[in-house]
Amino acid sequence: MSLARTLVLKTSGLAPIKFLVRKSFLFRPLVGRFIAGDTLEEALKVSESILAKGLLVSLDYLGENTASEQEALEATATFIRMLERIAEMPVVQKWNAEHADSPTLNQSGDGIEPLNISIKMTQCGLDLGEAFAEKNLREVVETAHRLHNFVRVDMEASEYTQRTMDMIERVRGEYKNTATVLQTYLYRTPGDVERVIGWKARVRLVKGAYLEPPSEAYPEKAKVDEAYVTLGKRLLDAGTYPAFATQDAAIIKTLNAYATEKGIDKSRFEYQMLYGIRRDLQDSLAAEGYNVRIYVPFGDAWYPYFTRRLAERPANAFFILKSLFKG
Ligand code: FDA
Repeated sequence: MSLARTLVLKTSGLAPIKFLVRKSFLFRPLVGRFIAGDTLEEALKVSESILAKGLLVSLDYLGENTASEQEALEATATFIRMLERIAEMPVVQKWNAEHADSPTLNQSGDGIEPLNISIKMTQCGLDLGEAFAEKNLREVVETAHRLHNFVRVDMEASEYTQRTMDMIERVRGEYKNTATVLQTYLYRTPGDVERVIGWKARVRLVKGAYLEPPSEAYPEKAKVDEAYVTLGKRLLDAGTYPAFATQDAAIIKTLNAYATEKGIDKSRFEYQMLYGIRRDLQDSLAAEGYNVRIYVPFGDAWYPYFTRRLAERPANAFFILKSLFKG
């Protein structure tokens, strides 16, 4: 992990920095670049314009590590509300009508929903108890199932990986319209990739965004990138509609070349990118006929998400530091 990335992730946790960035209007434009708005309705508007361009969306209600059962229940209710509002959108209704006969809708990639949701297990209350969080997750997935939608469970820090994987496996025993995310910086991930291939689950592959110790994750970025390509190829060969979530143009080029060489059709996988990052790449991939899904975050609990984006691109963080010292 680069020194700059570690530095940003560590200093952003300090109370005075947190206070200044959250409260100052100076950073609003930068925050607005990555966050689609404070409310669900604002995020749906942004989503509509993304869908109109021929891209797909995954909507993310920001928040993590809920500290009380009340908060976790409120987050769960919001996820359900999101699914209900999505189901009311004309573009989604049209799509549902066109795919009504697909037997594997939202499970195998035969029917890929235009607008799904991404949630976090610690939002559902994982810190407060596994059974409690699982009950909340089940409720959300069940609602999505009823409304022909899909729930992506983001992967958080490595202390949650095993519990998240086990929980998804249990819920998938009943509902197949959910799956999770694997991070190529973790040493354990090749084993997890085989596990999700066995489930026939739609996995999202990412490099990993949390501060991890060298006992768990590769400290060298080159190793993380190399693992991404190896595991990406494995998922292209044996996975079920994998999602490659990266803005790394070199990796995308390599995976596209591999898919072409192996005769794997563009419809059998998708790319995912974050709202506000590499729009040029999003548009050019879609123009070439690849499925591209944009991860659209909204809500007022944007601080941890925002600082992870800064850590990926330290130039953004240095801009903030410079502004702070200018007064
Ligand atoms: P890399 O960091 O090497 O960046 C490649 C290029 O992308 C850069 O050179 C730059 O051009 C551009 N870029 C990347 N980040 C940028 C930024 N913040 N600002 C400006 N430009 C930037 N992580 C996780 O641990 N759990 C999860 O569930 C998810 N979910 C997720 C969903 C989606 C849709 C995406 C795209 C990413 C995630 N991530 C994630 C985050 C992921 O782990 C990783 O931190 C980021 O994707 C950045 O890594 P890249 O693959 O883009 O490569």
